[in-house]
Amino acid sequence: MNITSRLPEVGTSIFTVMSRMSLEHGAINLAQGFPDFPVSDELIELIYQNMKAGHNQYAPMPGAIALKKAIADVVTKSFNRPTDFENEVVITAGATEAIYSTIAALVRDGDEVIVFDPAYDSYDPSIRLNGGKPIHIILKPPHFSIDWQEVRDKITPRTRMIIINTPHNPTGSVLEESDLNALEKLALEFGLIVLSDEVYERIIFDGKQHQSVLKYPALSMQSVAVFSFGKTFHATGWKVGYTVAPENLTREIRKAHQFITFSVNTPVQLALAEYLTNPDHYLHIGTFYQRKRDFFLDQIKGSSFRPLPSYGSYFQLLSYDSVSELNEAEMAEWMTKEKKLAPIPVSAFYQDGADHKLLRFCFAKGEETLEKAGVILRKL
Ligand SMILES: Cc1ncc(COP(=O)(O)O)c(C=O)c1O
Repeated sequence: MNITSRLPEVGTSIFTVMSRMSLEHGAINLAQGFPDFPVSDELIELIYQNMKAGHNQYAPMPGAIALKKAIADVVTKSFNRPTDFENEVVITAGATEAIYSTIAALVRDGDEVIVFDPAYDSYDPSIRLNGGKPIHIILKPPHFSIDWQEVRDKITPRTRMIIINTPHNPTGSVLEESDLNALEKLALEFGLIVLSDEVYERIIFDGKQHQSVLKYPALSMQSVAVFSFGKTFHATGWKVGYTVAPENLTREIRKAHQFITFSVNTPVQLALAEYLTNPDHYLHIGTFYQRKRDFFLDQIKGSSFRPLPSYGSYFQLLSYDSVSELNEAEMAEWMTKEKKLAPIPVSAFYQDGADHKLLRFCFAKGEETLEKAGVILRKL
């Protein structure tokens, strides 16, 4: 049978390619963005207890009531945004499903969606699978800041949505209050929906404040904020995330979610609900990861790799412009095969493949791993 692909250019993701290459060549894998340290014993114990207590069947479609309540409570406190757990929260299978369900529910055929490159890889295909048209705006190193006049210039009568991501994967940049003010102005003026990917909300450094769309009352009425427990509690394999959005948007997201996953695994939801009642479990995550970032930066002191600022996420970009003439993909491959250290080429996050001689390294790793990576980088 002749299948016409709806995503002809999508192949194996760069994360899979680099991780596979890393494994094959016995390299240290700082390519894929997952932590290599253990999840809290207390949280694991809570899941086990919930399973033993028989909470093993379908959860309610929009999420377990206890978890929706706990989330609404945290959001209300963190962002000073009163949140109605019954009508404004959806628990999803990770942020990936949250993003997909939001787009499936709210982007109509032919709608334009503004995406900032470098961008997380699921945005563009999720838009296209749902009949939308991604409009890519290029952000440039070293600060990857958004030119809001350029955004205004790209808005047309077909523009439906803008996707932002702060703290940002892959660059570690964060949006400031002035960015959110500019975004709010455009969203209100043109009636746009903002999809705000905030999966790294807790992983923010150097005294920066996370600028959630939920902190801005008018903007929040047109926004869907997306979060991930995988990132917050370093348990990426559990795939539990959520959306927070006003009732009219949440109602539509639930319609899509209902037929994409229906509901998310029950014992993990119930365990998270209990775990969230103690703020100590999430208030110190930024400090924890800032130490890791600083440890990694210490390891590369004296190396020819030049760090770019990373204010959030668990990624550090390094420029190798004084090290090699290779392009990013070639450099990443060479480092993995010959030097046994696997990064991700940042060009993979640009639709046009823009190459700035930058590699992304994930520092959500144990100190021993980061030390070994440092030894390799200092020799190059
Ligand atoms: C920016 C960003 N958004 C969304 C996701 C997906 O999160 P989840 O694993 O919860 O689906 C990731 C994961 O790497 C990410 O980096």
